[in-house]
Amino acid sequence: MECKTIDIEKLKVNNVNGDDDVVTPWTVESKNETGVDYDKLIQKFGCSKVDQVLLDRFEKLTGKPCHRFLRRGIFFAHRDMHLVLDYYEKGTPFYLYTGRGPSSEAMHVGHLIPFMFCQWLQEVFDVPLVIQMSDDEKAIWKNLTIEEAIKLSYENAKDIIACGFDMKKTFIFSNLEHIGNNPALYQNMIRIQRGVTFNQIKGIFGLGDNDSIGKIAYPSTQAAPAFSTSFPFIFKNAKVPCLIPAAIDQDPYFRMSRDVAPKLGYIKPSLISSSFFPALQGSKTKMSASNCNSAIFLTDTAKQIKNKVNKYAFSGGQPTVEEHRQIGGNCEVDISYQWLRFFLDDDERLKVIEKSYTSGELLTGELKKELIEVLQEIIGSHQKRREVITDEIVKQYMTPRDLGFQLNINK
Ligand code: TYM
Repeated sequence: MECKTIDIEKLKVNNVNGDDDVVTPWTVESKNETGVDYDKLIQKFGCSKVDQVLLDRFEKLTGKPCHRFLRRGIFFAHRDMHLVLDYYEKGTPFYLYTGRGPSSEAMHVGHLIPFMFCQWLQEVFDVPLVIQMSDDEKAIWKNLTIEEAIKLSYENAKDIIACGFDMKKTFIFSNLEHIGNNPALYQNMIRIQRGVTFNQIKGIFGLGDNDSIGKIAYPSTQAAPAFSTSFPFIFKNAKVPCLIPAAIDQDPYFRMSRDVAPKLGYIKPSLISSSFFPALQGSKTKMSASNCNSAIFLTDTAKQIKNKVNKYAFSGGQPTVEEHRQIGGNCEVDISYQWLRFFLDDDERLKVIEKSYTSGELLTGELKKELIEVLQEIIGSHQKRREVITDEIVKQYMTPRDLGFQLNINK
């Protein structure tokens, strides 16, 4: 298990109750039923809260209402988001960068969160997006064969493409295949490796003397795409600001990228970070691809979705109907409600559900039914879109090419 070597003490976040939240790229755990204390995490990591001022700016600049992930505080933290918007306002576009570590064929619904959000950002800002498939990371950490890791990149790329990215503006790449063909990316990796010490890596990632050198070098691979000069075929060597949407577990990689950027004469990447989509069993952990009952997978059938939600979704309801009618349910810990916050777009409907569950009018079984219907629709339509994505389509997204990027937005 890779997390045995992490120096957890360095990475612990003490929450208000004195319990310990652990948030690293490998482990997300909280002792609280309501999950990680994100306000404490903002302080600990030194990022900023996504506040109303920022949301107003989003709406003003795009002329579109904010995505529900913003309206509901699901993307809750940022670093230098205002800077990216300043550039954009003055007519300089940014690009988006995100990624996936392909460790299994089936992605779960939690993995959809950053990709759904990126799809929306790409649409409202009309900007290019690069997506890194870090199959090298998974080959190192999960001991996959190189061939197997590459195969998983292609499988997962289909699920990512099914989120609706504009092919003309999206480049997806497998690290194991692409880096050897892109000297500019490799050169940036080496610049980063030269600018970061082993001590810094130990401090940020908790790696130690017994970790493979692959683990020590890997952060430079995840950092390099945050610098536009890594993609000369897209940005023609211009220094273009970068915005990285991801869950907050990826923050350590980009803290490192931001630290090293000035040494290389590059713009620090900006970040917008989400909370975790919780496991069916409750908010103490994020979902895991290795525990199939903790998650709903993008390959699950309508029947599997129904059975898993009914059997495993942690309930904030009371033990008997009588008690529930009297005391009401607790939405803060109820997984069906929490999942609806991520996926039910209708604010009014969500408010009604919250009110009637809290008052005891709506029962746990009825709340679960609401969630099952929403999930079956989202996953069913995802599967339909994925079905028609051929290997040829994947190849087109994964071909290095000019994405029609221009340094000035014609306003
Ligand atoms: P990976 O494959 O673990 O996760 C892919 C993306 O999904 C986010 N994520 C979640 N978001 C909300 N709720 C969850 N339960 C949940 N689980 C995972 C992750 O934060 C990530 O954004 N090292 C990365 C791959 C990577 C990457 C990047 C990610 C390479 N370059 C650039 C972000 C940006 C990884 O293993 O992610």
